[in-house]
Amino acid sequence: MKVGVVGAGLVGATAAYALTLRGSCSDLVLTDKDEPRAQAEAQDIAHAAPVSHGTRVTSGPLEALSGSAVVIVAAGANQQPGESRLDLTGRNAAIFRDLIPGVAAQAPGAVLLIATNPVDALTDLATRLAPEHAVLGSGTVLDSARFRHLIARRAGVDPTHVHGYVLGEHGDSEVLAWSTVTVAGLPVEDFMAARGLPWTPEIRAEIETGTRDAAAHIIGGKRATYYGIGASLARIAERILGDRRAVLTVSAPTPEFGVSLSLPRIVGSGGIEGTVMPRLTPEEQQALEASAGVLRQASEGLEN
Ligand code: 2OP
Repeated sequence: MKVGVVGAGLVGATAAYALTLRGSCSDLVLTDKDEPRAQAEAQDIAHAAPVSHGTRVTSGPLEALSGSAVVIVAAGANQQPGESRLDLTGRNAAIFRDLIPGVAAQAPGAVLLIATNPVDALTDLATRLAPEHAVLGSGTVLDSARFRHLIARRAGVDPTHVHGYVLGEHGDSEVLAWSTVTVAGLPVEDFMAARGLPWTPEIRAEIETGTRDAAAHIIGGKRATYYGIGASLARIAERILGDRRAVLTVSAPTPEFGVSLSLPRIVGSGGIEGTVMPRLTPEEQQALEASAGVLRQASEGLEN
C-alpha cells in the first residue's frame, strides 16, 4: 500500500511522519519542487521507520507517485498571521492548475486527498482538473477534532468518545453543529447534567470560539499549524487504504449546495462512498447555507 505526498512543507512532512508512526502504509514517497527539501524530509522520516512500523520512506520526482493508492496534496502557500484561508485562493489555485494534471497523470487510480487551503475551493478545482480521479478534501475533519477536544475537556472524558461534527467551510463560516454532539450516547447537555458539570451559553461560546479561531491562534504563536492537520490527513488516508468506511467530515463537490464543503461522509477505498445529511436545527441549516454561500462566492472565477 503506497501513499504519495505532494508538497514536503510542514503539513506534507507532518502527514508523512504521522503515517509512518501509525504504520498506515508500506511505502511512502514525498515529492516537492524543492527536491533537496523532499529528500531531507524523507530521510529524516525514514529514520523513524525502524523504530515504528518499518514503512519504506523515499522521495522523488512526480513520476515516483506511480502506484500510489492515495496521494495527499499539500503543496502551496500557507496563511500568514492576519490572513484568512480564502486570501490564499488565487496563489494556490495557480499552483494547482500547474500541478494537478501532472499528479493525475502519474498516479492513475489514486484517490487524491487535498489539504492545501482554501481546501474547499481547491477540492472543487482539483475535481475539475483530475476528472478521472476520486478527489476529496480534508475539509473540517480537523475542525471536528478541535470541537471534540474542547467538549471532551469540559466533559472530563476521552475525546475519542465524544462525537460531533463541524460542517460547511473549513474556515471562518464553518458550522459547529451542536445538535450532532453526543457524549456517552447522550446529547451533550444531558451528559453534563448527569455528571453534575456546568454547561452554560458562555461555555458553549468559549468552545465555539476555541474551535473557529484555533488556527489563527496557533499561527499567531508559531506561524503555522501542522500536527493536527498531519494526523487528520494520516487518519483519512488510512481509512481509504483500509476501505474502513469511516464517517469523516471531508470536503467534496455537493450538488445541493453548488460547491465543495464538508458533511459527514462515508470514506472507503473509492474515496467518498456516501454522504449522510445530519438532522440539523433550522439555525444550523441556515448557517450551513450561509457557509455554502461564502464558498460559492470564493469559487467564482476559479473555473478552469
Ligand atoms: C488549520 O485549520 C490552517 O487550515 C489550517 O490548521
